[in-house]
Amino acid sequence: MTSDQPLDRRSFVKKASVTAISFAVGASLWSCNKKDEAPKENSGPGSMPSNMKATKLSPAETSAMVSKFEAAGVMTMEHPGKWKGKEGSHIPQVTMHKGEGAITLFTKHPMSPKHWITAHYLKDQDGKLIGFQLYEGTDKEARHRFMIPKGTTRITAYSHCNKHGDWKAADQKTG
Ligand SMILES: [Fe+2]
Repeated sequence: MTSDQPLDRRSFVKKASVTAISFAVGASLWSCNKKDEAPKENSGPGSMPSNMKATKLSPAETSAMVSKFEAAGVMTMEHPGKWKGKEGSHIPQVTMHKGEGAITLFTKHPMSPKHWITAHYLKDQDGKLIGFQLYEGTDKEARHRFMIPKGTTRITAYSHCNKHGDWKAADQKTG
């Protein structure tokens, strides 16, 4: 997908559903947290990181989806490209919950079945994906609280819109 070829809801849902179904069958132990629920802590070695469980996708599938988002380019406040003027409604707002090891991402963007924020995700100081949350156009808003893994010193937050592509907030310290 590129920003010139917006992913409509039908094709996005179709692709996401195929992925979700394929993993749901083979990994029924993976829970699917509601967005408003606090993520559960990791349950042991080799377990799915709690920030990833919310999507039903494996880390590999989630990484593949992020790579696809980013292949079309990542826009920022300084470099919005052809979508200049849409920074405020696409760059995620980051709220740190100091002392709780958590942050909330919120993107002030309208949510509708034809145009919506499809996902939020987080990377750490090494560029490692540490959180991912999918949304649907029928969701009231794009907002999710993520637990920050221990050892994380900086985070970068991303938001993906089905029409206006991938957007990155300025990275910041976790503490
Ligand atoms: Fe948008």
